[in-house]
Amino acid sequence: MDVYEAVTSRRAVRGFTDREVPRETLERVLAAAVRAPSGSNLQPWRAYVLTGAPLAEVKKRAGERLAAGDPWDEPQYQQYPPALKSPYRERRAAFGEQRYGSLGIPRHDIEARQRAASANWDCFGAPAALFCYIDRDLGPAQWSDVGMFLQTVMLLLRAEGLDSCAQMAWAKFHRTVAEVVSPPDELILFCGMSIGFEDVTLDRTRTGRAPLEETVTFVDGG
Ligand SMILES: Cc1cc2nc3c(=O)[nH]c(=O)nc-3n(C[C@H](O)[C@H](O)[C@H](O)COP(=O)(O)O)c2cc1C
Repeated sequence: MDVYEAVTSRRAVRGFTDREVPRETLERVLAAAVRAPSGSNLQPWRAYVLTGAPLAEVKKRAGERLAAGDPWDEPQYQQYPPALKSPYRERRAAFGEQRYGSLGIPRHDIEARQRAASANWDCFGAPAALFCYIDRDLGPAQWSDVGMFLQTVMLLLRAEGLDSCAQMAWAKFHRTVAEVVSPPDELILFCGMSIGFEDVTLDRTRTGRAPLEETVTFVDGG
C-alpha cells in the first residue's frame, strides 16, 4: 500500500469484528511508528498497547462506571476551548450531524447520542487498543509530536489491513485506564485508540473536509 492510499483509506472506524490482532503485527507497527519525528528527537509519546484480559478489564471497569452514572474523571488537559469560535464551531456541529445522522439519531435526542457515544468505552468492539500518554511537564510542541506518532501508527495499521479510531473519550476515564496500566505519576492520558479489523456491515460514512483554500494557502509569487 502506498502512502497516499494509507492516508486516504484511513477513517475513524467505530465498529470492529472480534478477529484478534496478532501481537507480531502490533509490534511491527509500533517499532516502525517510533520513527515519527519529534522536536529535538524528544520522542515524547508513551504508549501502552492492550489486548486480551487487560483490555477486557479496562472495558469492563469503564462499562461499570457508565452503568453507575459515575461522573467523568477530573480533566488533565482541555480538549476544546469552552467557547469554540467560528469556523471550528460549525465544523464540530457538522461532524455531530453527520456522525449521529448516519446512525439515524436526530439532533434533539441527546440520550440516543450518549448511548452511541458510550461505545467508545467498549473500544467499538475492537480487540486491541493503544493508550497514549505524555509527560505532564511537556508543552504544545511535544503534544504535536505525539500527534505525529499517533497518525504514523494509524497509517501503518492501514498497511497491515487494520483500522483504528483515536479516542479522546478515554481521557474522561483516565483513572480507570491507570488502574490497569499503572503509568508513572508524571504521565497524563492524551487519548486511547481502538485497533482491529473493521466490521464492514456497519455504517461506513466518511467525513468531509473544508475546501483546501480554507486551510492551505500557497504563496508562490505567481
Ligand atoms: C486526537 C483525536 C481524538 C479523537 N477522539 C475521538 C473519540 O473520543 N471518539 C470518536 O468516536 N472519535 C474520535 N476521534 C475521531 C475524529 O472524530 C475523526 O478523526 C474526525 O471526525 C475525522 O474523521 P476521519 O478520521 O474518519 O477522517 C478523534 C480523533 C483524534 C485525532
